[in-house]
Amino acid sequence: MPVVRGKNIEPLYTAETIAARNSELAGMIVNGPHKDLLVIAVLKGSFIFAADLIRSMHTAGLAPEVEFITLSSYGTGTVSQGVKITKDIDSDVHGRDVLLIDDILESGRTLRFAKELMYERGARNVTIAVLLDKRVKRKVELEADYVGFECPDHFVVGYGMDVAYAFRELPFVGVVTGDAE
Ligand code: IMP
Ligand code: MG
Repeated sequence: MPVVRGKNIEPLYTAETIAARNSELAGMIVNGPHKDLLVIAVLKGSFIFAADLIRSMHTAGLAPEVEFITLSSYGTGTVSQGVKITKDIDSDVHGRDVLLIDDILESGRTLRFAKELMYERGARNVTIAVLLDKRVKRKVELEADYVGFECPDHFVVGYGMDVAYAFRELPFVGVVTGDAE
C-alpha cells in the first residue's frame, strides 16, 4: 500500500482506471450540448481531473474554451451550508453551453450554486461533469450529467483532492487508512 506523509493510502481508483473513464466521459460529452462550449473548472479540487478531461475532450474532437472559478463553502465545520465566489471567471457565458467540472458531488450545494449562477448570467445550457458522486451525502436535489464513478462514503484524497492541502499530487484516488508502521 502506498505510504505518503507517514500515512497508508489505500487506492480506490487507479490512474489507469481514471484515464479509461475520462475517455468514456469525453465520448459522452461530445454527444451533449456544445455550442460555443465553455468549460469551467471549479477549483481547487478539480484541477487535475479538469486537466485530464479537457485533453480527452480534445481527443474526442471538442475545442472548448476553458475557465476557472473558485468557490468555497461557509457554515458550521465540515457541514457546508452556503457557497461563495472566491475568484470568479472573466468570460461572458451569455448564450453559451457551459460544462462545469468538479471533483466530487457531495451535498450538491456547490454545484447547484454554480449551475444557477451560470443560468442567471444567461447561459444557454449548463451541464455538470464530476469524477466522483457521493450520492448518500446529497442534501439538495442535483444530478450530474457525467459521472466518473459512484463513490463510497469515505473521505477520499488524491488526483487533486486534499486533506488540509496535502495528497493532491497522488495520480490515483485513495482513502487514508491510518499511520504507517
Ligand atoms: P458539496 O457537494 O457542496 O458538498 O461539495 C463537495 C466539495 O467538497 C467537493 O468539490 C470537494 O472539494 C469537497 N469534498 C467532498 N468530499 C470530499 C472528499 O472525500 N475528499 C476531498 N474533498 C471532498
Ligand atoms: Mg471542490
